Amino acid sequence: MADQPTSPPKKLYIETVGCQMNVLDSELVVARLRDDGYELTDDIDQADAILYNTCSVRQHAEDKIYSALGRIKHLKRKKPDLAVGVLGCMAQKDQGQILRRAPHVDVVIGPGQLGRVPELIAKAKADAAPQMAVSLARNAGSRQHVTSSFDSYDADREPAVRPSPFQAYLRVMMGCDKFCTYCIVPSVRGPEQSRPPSEIVAEARLLAFQGVKEITLIGQTVNSYKHKEPDGRVARLSDLLERLHEIDGVERIKFITNFPNDMTDDLLQAVRDLPKVSRYIHVPAQSGCDLVLKRMKRMYTVSFYEEMLARLRETVPGASVSSDFIVGFCGETDESFDKTVGLVERSRFKNSFIFKYSPRTGTKADDLFPDDVPEEVKRRRNHVLLDLQTAISLEDNRAFIGRETTVLVEGPSRSTTRKEGWDGPDQLTGRTHCDRIVVFDGPEELTGRMARVKIENASAVTLFGRVVASPVASPA
Ligand code: SAH
Ligand code: SF4
Ligand code: F3S
Repeated sequence: MADQPTSPPKKLYIETVGCQMNVLDSELVVARLRDDGYELTDDIDQADAILYNTCSVRQHAEDKIYSALGRIKHLKRKKPDLAVGVLGCMAQKDQGQILRRAPHVDVVIGPGQLGRVPELIAKAKADAAPQMAVSLARNAGSRQHVTSSFDSYDADREPAVRPSPFQAYLRVMMGCDKFCTYCIVPSVRGPEQSRPPSEIVAEARLLAFQGVKEITLIGQTVNSYKHKEPDGRVARLSDLLERLHEIDGVERIKFITNFPNDMTDDLLQAVRDLPKVSRYIHVPAQSGCDLVLKRMKRMYTVSFYEEMLARLRETVPGASVSSDFIVGFCGETDESFDKTVGLVERSRFKNSFIFKYSPRTGTKADDLFPDDVPEEVKRRRNHVLLDLQTAISLEDNRAFIGRETTVLVEGPSRSTTRKEGWDGPDQLTGRTHCDRIVVFDGPEELTGRMARVKIENASAVTLFGRVVASPVASPA
């Protein structure tokens, strides 16, 4: 039956895994589906459409989705009109295999085709046949690489889906050309493409108009951003930061994730000179052993990375730096792991994301090197590195005790206020200029504003304090 204008809104349930790209993609998909008469629900049993926006970066992320699909099979039997969709990176990677493993799926849609979600759901219903839309891929041996460019549909924004109304992601580039040997991202997200600055600035203005105060620029390697303007000039990330800095209403600007080789002086100087730009830089090292880095094809050495870090800290005093590490990559010996431990000890990252190597079909590492570090060893190395990082984070956080800091208030703290049985004062959460999480006593009206907070206690991940003054004019 065709939808009448008076028909009740259809209900959409969407689950998102993976990186910030996916969080933003889901926002755009919801925006499109809202125009098509859907409204969001948290109740999967009530849904007319259940969508999973998926990630392929590690096996675990994929397993989660296949088991979620298994769990909703009965819903589809009860409600044959229900639309089930697999979107994003796993859709691009597994394509028809998803329909074979989960025949109750109606649409399989890659990250480059997300603008077509409403149309493809409607077509799956009309034709009573599953629909698949993925980007063209080129075979490279056993590997498949997306070759086509993705359409940009980022101008569609949906404030209601954002975790907070005054924080938003803004994509400055798509895809990745680095092809680290372990990584599936370039094969599913396609070639690196930077969006024109004018488009990005216009979108930032729209976000500011919608009440957004903190914009996080995202790209797989955001500091590789480069766009050739019609007059031949090349716009870099530092140019973009300067232009975005002028937008009224935008109070804080962050950018993730950085590639060590592209950490140029102009970018570091922009972070130093533009007060709205967070003094926080996420720049993954992945390993502290040259042999492993070489096998990963990261294109830098440990000493290059450390020199970059020294330059960063010299140019931007007080900056906090975070990193990613993969433990148990092919050929990682105890000795190579010890070198990673050494790098973490010396670097004093604010925090590190540590992952056990997960071989991905279609990557060079999976073709060329055996996954020779036993799971048990990967687990142990993961714990060792995490414990070390936690000790460093705790020590650095404790140095804040007694100091005052400016916090952009994000809202009530889930960890305390929303805890069942909590009857203490309201607690809010927010972040400092260098991205440290702060939980503090204060009224909910401060949400979305800058507050001065005195730090009284600290754990490895959180600073605790109380408001001393608010709001403040500048994010310094
Ligand atoms: N573009 C970002 C990273 C995207 S993936 C960058 O280059 O920094 C996020 C993180 O997942 C990576 O930094 C890496 O640490 C981890 N990762 C990627 N592929 C992986 C794999 N096959 N196994 C385990 N971890 C992986
Ligand atoms: Fe993956 Fe490397 Fe590209 Fe990051 S830079 S997305 S780790 S290939
Ligand atoms: Fe995962 Fe795709 Fe992001 S593979 S990490 S969701 S780009």
